[in-house]
Amino acid sequence: MDIPWTLGFIGAGVMADVMIGGLLAEEVLPPDHIIASDPNRTRLQQVHVTHGVRTLSDNRALVEQCDVVILAVKPQNLAEVMAELAGRLPEHTTVMSIVAGATIGVIRRGLRHEHVVRCMPNLPCRIRRGMTVWTAAGDRADLARVRTILRVMGEEIFVDHEEQVDQATAVNGTGPAIVAHFVKSMVEAATYIGEPRQVARDTVLATLIGTAEMIRVADRDGIHVAQLIDDVTSPGGTTSRAIQVLKRGRFSAVVTESIEAAHARTLQLGEELERALAAAGADGSR
Ligand SMILES: NC(=O)c1ccc[n+]([C@@H]2O[C@H](COP(=O)([O-])OP(=O)(O)OC[C@H]3O[C@@H](n4cnc5c(N)ncnc54)[C@H](OP(=O)(O)O)[C@@H]3O)[C@@H](O)[C@H]2O)c1
Repeated sequence: MDIPWTLGFIGAGVMADVMIGGLLAEEVLPPDHIIASDPNRTRLQQVHVTHGVRTLSDNRALVEQCDVVILAVKPQNLAEVMAELAGRLPEHTTVMSIVAGATIGVIRRGLRHEHVVRCMPNLPCRIRRGMTVWTAAGDRADLARVRTILRVMGEEIFVDHEEQVDQATAVNGTGPAIVAHFVKSMVEAATYIGEPRQVARDTVLATLIGTAEMIRVADRDGIHVAQLIDDVTSPGGTTSRAIQVLKRGRFSAVVTESIEAAHARTLQLGEELERALAAAGADGSR
């Protein structure tokens, strides 16, 4: 383990808990090099007891001691956090935000700080099988450390353009809920035709995981997913009938519309944060 650097979490909620658990399990940092701050003392106590990390109820004291600071609060708490910390981060600090919709511009202006990384993790991060899409601004943002932190939650992809993080918010951020909805519908359908509930759950999940992994292998071999569908669709067979019903129900169009709606909402969240920041006078406009 090569230390000594210190990581701070502003907000000791679900995501902080997941990330701290992963960082300790992977021995990225020892517990005394991780600090979490939160106004909720019970939450701090839980994090301390579970992981043995240091805790503080003062965000300003935290940022003074950390090389990398993770903003892990809900979007509605971000403006107050930034107002409290504006201009108080040491110049070398890398700020890493996982707050949905908060743009690099908002965070830079809100904190009056250069080196900002914006990340969009997703729900499977909770079991360390997530996907995070991220980008960075500021030529001294510590990308190597950020990558190490993100990898404890699963896979990560760095993108050059921030719009791709907005897109990812709609795709990989919202994706787990869409997939879960699909699983629920498929289990309901299986029980509708008489499959026992537990068999339905087991077969649907095994089918989903197996298919996803098979598509990934095929993708690496340059085989398009449409080819796989063709391979299992014999003329006049069962799959052909099922696919026709999906087409009649505008399945692809509905998926597109739901991702499009999530994308529009992501952009709107960013605009709302801009307005909240301006209203709090924390955007440098006052
Ligand atoms: N959960 C996910 O799967 C997921 C996935 C992708 C991205 N995210 C993003 O990750 C961020 C955190 O999500 P989460 O699920 O971890 O939320 P969470 O469990 O609600 O944790 C946020 C924590 O921040 C605390 N907090 C509120 N105001 C604060 C302040 N001024 N200073 C310090 N801490 C403060 C909250 O305390 P109180 O509860 O007392 O308010 C809470 O303990 C969100 O912005 C979300 O968009 C989450």
